[in-house]
Amino acid sequence: MEIDIQFLPFSPDPRALSNRSVVVIDVLRSTSVIVHAISQGALEIIPSSTVEEAFQTAAIYPSRTTLLGGERESRKVPGFDLGNSPREYVAARVKGKRIVLTTTNGTKAFHLVSSGEEIIAGSFFNLGATVERCLEMDRDILLFPSGDEGNFSLEDTVCGGMFIDLAARKRKGGLSLTDDSLAARILYQRFEANLSEALHLSRHGKDLVNSGAGDDLPYCAQVDLLPLVPIFREGVIRAR
Ligand code: MLT
Repeated sequence: MEIDIQFLPFSPDPRALSNRSVVVIDVLRSTSVIVHAISQGALEIIPSSTVEEAFQTAAIYPSRTTLLGGERESRKVPGFDLGNSPREYVAARVKGKRIVLTTTNGTKAFHLVSSGEEIIAGSFFNLGATVERCLEMDRDILLFPSGDEGNFSLEDTVCGGMFIDLAARKRKGGLSLTDDSLAARILYQRFEANLSEALHLSRHGKDLVNSGAGDDLPYCAQVDLLPLVPIFREGVIRAR
């Protein structure tokens, strides 16, 4: 069983994904939002690539059961119900609702890896549960940090490195790590004692602090707060 991590968010060769578990990671903040919303009773999340597509998708469903959420430039989109802070996605707003979500990087990433055998939304919130699921499935794994507008993202790679570290310790040598996975694991070990530091050093973390969303950084750095495994299948994310 191999674990690989793709540092940049371009679409992998579909043949390389066909028998893999794929974990999409956007710690700041869309996979954190997805895990949080589902933990608070959201029925399903529909990740959309563009704002236009999100409005069109939401219009298909009754408005009383459907919310529009997400961001552009880290701010709520005009006409949307919710922005992109996980702390907005509480039961009082989302329980029993479908959420059509669009974000700059994270929601697009699910569509880039849609030929994976099983596609999971991963974050620090559900790290342990995601590792357990992938080990139980016993397939090769691709971790897919959603990056920062096509660029490397420190916080997502550190989260991927933590996944690799935990999986390698649980399997005790039964795992093959690519050089990329080894590098991500070593990067995680640098921040192991203070994950929040990685989020604060990252470019996107700094942008969020500057735009007034700094409280989301320590919030999204909480590990194993929400032990669930959201799966993306046929365009929709639901709890497994
Ligand atoms: C993204 O998908 O790029 C992020 O979720 C943006 C954000 O933090 O609002």
